[in-house]
Amino acid sequence: MTIDIISVQPQMFRGFLEESMVARAVRKGACEIRIRDLRDYTHDRWRKVDDKPYGGGPGMLMMCGPWFEAVESCLNGSPAEGRRVIMTSPAGRRFDQRMAEELSRERHLVFMCGHYEGFDARIRTLATDEVSIGDFVMTGGELASAAMVDAVVRLLPGVLGGGPAATASESFGRDGLLEAPQYTHPPVFRGMAVPEILLSGDHAKIEVWRRAESRRLTAERRPDLI
Ligand SMILES: C[S@@+](CC[C@H](N)C(=O)[O-])C[C@H]1O[C@@H](n2cnc3c(N)ncnc32)[C@H](O)[C@@H]1O
Repeated sequence: MTIDIISVQPQMFRGFLEESMVARAVRKGACEIRIRDLRDYTHDRWRKVDDKPYGGGPGMLMMCGPWFEAVESCLNGSPAEGRRVIMTSPAGRRFDQRMAEELSRERHLVFMCGHYEGFDARIRTLATDEVSIGDFVMTGGELASAAMVDAVVRLLPGVLGGGPAATASESFGRDGLLEAPQYTHPPVFRGMAVPEILLSGDHAKIEVWRRAESRRLTAERRPDLI
């Protein structure tokens, strides 16, 4: 998979690409990530990417010119099949695990990180998807893109140690429910004991307990998922 991320703050991705699980995925060859500076697609000495909105209003909007050149340059030579261009926006479709799985099956992803008051509406025509990571407003699309890239890349074959089983039993996994509570050593910590069943070695019974806990927790915290 090839992932392009277009941003006016490309340096924000330094730690993400050098230290994270995503860095490991790149080293393993599961994906290639290219960070593009939107200002490299400007043609004036100020490298201007924004201007005042027509009709008035606060703040500045991102201009069409640099965005069209940047996205077209990413897509140059990339077949339309298996390709998605994702515009980050609080007004977009809400990102979730199902979308992460959907994107993990594509071949080429382009993430567009907005800034200021957002994009000139015509820039939307470049995108296949307009996506939000939640009902709140951030100053830029970099953290939204990083969150989505992380969620997608960990699903790529060979990235996680446990393979497909590692993600199937997680929250929002195979059955769409929240994950059952998990415990590790020691068996008792400050008077809090690990449930007896998990120490029993009876894997069939443990599976039944986990399913029941998963349903209980989901009903309690996220009934909308049931
Ligand atoms: C300050 S926001 C613009 C908000 C826009 N004026 C609005 O009211 O919808 C600047 C940029 O941050 C990104 N952004 C902010 N919140 C986001 C969210 N919840 N999900 C995805 N991207 C977000 C988008 O790229 C957006 O263009």
